[in-house]
Amino acid sequence: MSKNATLEINGEKYEFPIIEGTEKELAINIKALRTATGGITTLDPGYKNTGSCESAITFLNGEEGILRYRGYSIEELAEKADFLEVAYLLIFGELPTTEELNKFHNDIKDQSHVDEDIKKILDGFPKSAHPMGVISSLTSALIAFNPSSVNVDSPEDMYLAIVRILGKFPVLTAWAYRKRAGLAMDYGDDSLGYVDNFLKMMFKKPSGEYNSNPVIVNALDKLLILHADHEQNCSTSTVRIVGSSHAGLFASLSAGISALWGPLHGGANQAVIEMLEAIKEDGGDTKKYMAKAKDKSDPFRLMGFGHRVYKNFDPRAKIIKVAADEVLNDLGVEDPILDIAKGLEKEALEDPYFVDRKLYPNVDFYSGIIYRAMGIPVEMFTAMFALGRLPGWIAQWREMRLRKEPIGRPRQVYIGENHRPFKDIDFR
Ligand code: ACO
Repeated sequence: MSKNATLEINGEKYEFPIIEGTEKELAINIKALRTATGGITTLDPGYKNTGSCESAITFLNGEEGILRYRGYSIEELAEKADFLEVAYLLIFGELPTTEELNKFHNDIKDQSHVDEDIKKILDGFPKSAHPMGVISSLTSALIAFNPSSVNVDSPEDMYLAIVRILGKFPVLTAWAYRKRAGLAMDYGDDSLGYVDNFLKMMFKKPSGEYNSNPVIVNALDKLLILHADHEQNCSTSTVRIVGSSHAGLFASLSAGISALWGPLHGGANQAVIEMLEAIKEDGGDTKKYMAKAKDKSDPFRLMGFGHRVYKNFDPRAKIIKVAADEVLNDLGVEDPILDIAKGLEKEALEDPYFVDRKLYPNVDFYSGIIYRAMGIPVEMFTAMFALGRLPGWIAQWREMRLRKEPIGRPRQVYIGENHRPFKDIDFR
């Protein structure tokens, strides 16, 4: 097979090398396009065909429904590893030894306290503020309290920034929840595991004991693993592009959190539950909503269905569907919206509109149902996604730094006015 791609423009031929990834993916390297052609660029809105980087972190094959972190399948990781091991794997490239994992966890615990003045900033937010906005702001605010985190050329400061944010982010997330719930800000317990400690920070009542529930801890651990990375999605690309200007880790993450907030990305898990609730309130007629989703004159979309990359079952959705059943059974929760979800799923998988467009349930279709069963309010769902995605963002940011990638700066095709003389205000 040719190692070059030939592009012909107005009879002139240009050769571009084809590069091959470790999973045999092919890409035309167009780095030299503009120089070779005298300024011709490409146009690819939404970057559906554009690779922005080479990356050794996550492999996904949307056609076959494959997802692997650093070569390990998501199915095996969700079954055999815990979230912190997966975080280490994503960030540093290999599964940790016991010693490495203990050190990593201890370093995170050492850095998990948050400056008391952060509480004053949190105090300034109204109770009704969406947690994603609060968490994004507080993550950015951390820079002022940890100024060395902007030293992006120092390996020591980079490591410190990584363990700091892994320690402080669960605190900020739990506090964003407690602020809404009117509960005092508190810390957890360093003797607990990372996920268990987070649950304690969230749910410990000021006057009561926190009783850890292994079913909930395991389910959340699994959910966080499933969300931990997903290659160059909207929020991750945001983190990389912000970091490419040599902005620090916390600033890059804060931007990524904002990108995740939108309902077409991380906000979908909240949108799914709101949609299922609305269908329930409206009498549970799934067929009516299927028709709305297919009607091009109706803006309604079936939330939790479809994915930019997966044109097959999202492998994470398969794992979550089983986990949702387990959690609900173990906790003895009967949730009528689970039946609505199952009904919609069945209908969509048999409907030519969804089948032809390869629209399958994505990870968010079921995650909200588990979060609800755990007692996590719907406005916190996207924040839970952010907690899970944190190691992936860190890994991608670190990779971008270590590979010394150039600043991200796409081109455009200008379609505005041609040069025209300035019009005086009286003549406009
Ligand atoms: N309901 C109804 N129709 C849909 C849906 C849906 N959920 N998703 C896509 N379609 C249709 C589109 O209308 C379009 O139809 P057309 O070809 O007749 O015009 C076709 O399927 C292709 O859709 P696009 O929007 O071009 O697909 P794209 O890859 O750009 O979008 C996205 C993917 C944004 C995820 C989309 O499927 C969607 O909006 N889904 C609902 C929101 C959601 O669940 N987001 C979570 C994504 S997963 C995550 O972030 C973790």
